Amino acid sequence: MDARTRLSNMVWMAALACLLVLSLADVLFFSKLASGGEAEAQSASASAGGNADVADGAATGGAADGSANATGGSKAGATGASASKSDGIDYLVLVNKTHELDEDWENKVTLVEATNQRGSTIVVEKQALAAFEELQEELQSEGVVIDLNSCYRSRAKQQELVDQFTQEYGSDYVEKYVAKAGHSEHETGLALDVIPIVNGVEMLTNDEMLAQTDLWETVHTTMPKYGFILRYLPNQEAITGYEYEPWHLRYVGTPDAEKITKSGLTLEEYLGEA
Ligand code: DAL
Ligand code: ZN
Repeated sequence: MDARTRLSNMVWMAALACLLVLSLADVLFFSKLASGGEAEAQSASASAGGNADVADGAATGGAADGSANATGGSKAGATGASASKSDGIDYLVLVNKTHELDEDWENKVTLVEATNQRGSTIVVEKQALAAFEELQEELQSEGVVIDLNSCYRSRAKQQELVDQFTQEYGSDYVEKYVAKAGHSEHETGLALDVIPIVNGVEMLTNDEMLAQTDLWETVHTTMPKYGFILRYLPNQEAITGYEYEPWHLRYVGTPDAEKITKSGLTLEEYLGEA
């Protein structure tokens, strides 16, 4: 091989090496995008599949309307609620039919990703996820298995759900069962829809989930010490605007969760906003 051929070979090899590095970077970049996107897709597929997201839509009172209230619920209410603030957000934030979530929330909240047992990426507020993992561990030691299903949803994702449900079930249904964009607790990252797993089988439909009364009893009595409350209590639709949702856990932080649960009050009443 003469010097000229050797040089030409070296140029070719260098070009091939560059191509290889670029392709690898592409694969890594796209796989990152895919995992980020899956979390967003998760709630939509959950909805279509008739599980907890549908449960959210199907079992609860729904659409909200209300004026913007940046920190609705952050003030101490009639029952002496403490304004639980850390990590730049108000863990007692009230989001309901009359309290819209401040658009600035997204800039303040720290969202992290988790992977559920189905392998889906779930996005949750950081402190709420850590607390949930501890709750999950204690429950598991008692033979109760729950998993994350639908947690954080962007305002755009909530709007997509509204559109999807409007198309599938009509606007009356949506008015009754699905929170309007800007009015869903899921947009805070602090609402966790969980599914029971019984003998290795996920309970996905409303009926399957509602039938798990003993399981929910254990979950609901264990969770306050980890900072969670049952947000949509039975027979409190007139106050919360939603039907009983045993699967919808709301993180508020431990001292308040224990006080709220002991009082038997809705979050609205606890905050003096009923
Ligand atoms: N169904 C619940 C309340 C939501 O859409 O956020
Ligand atoms: Zn929910």
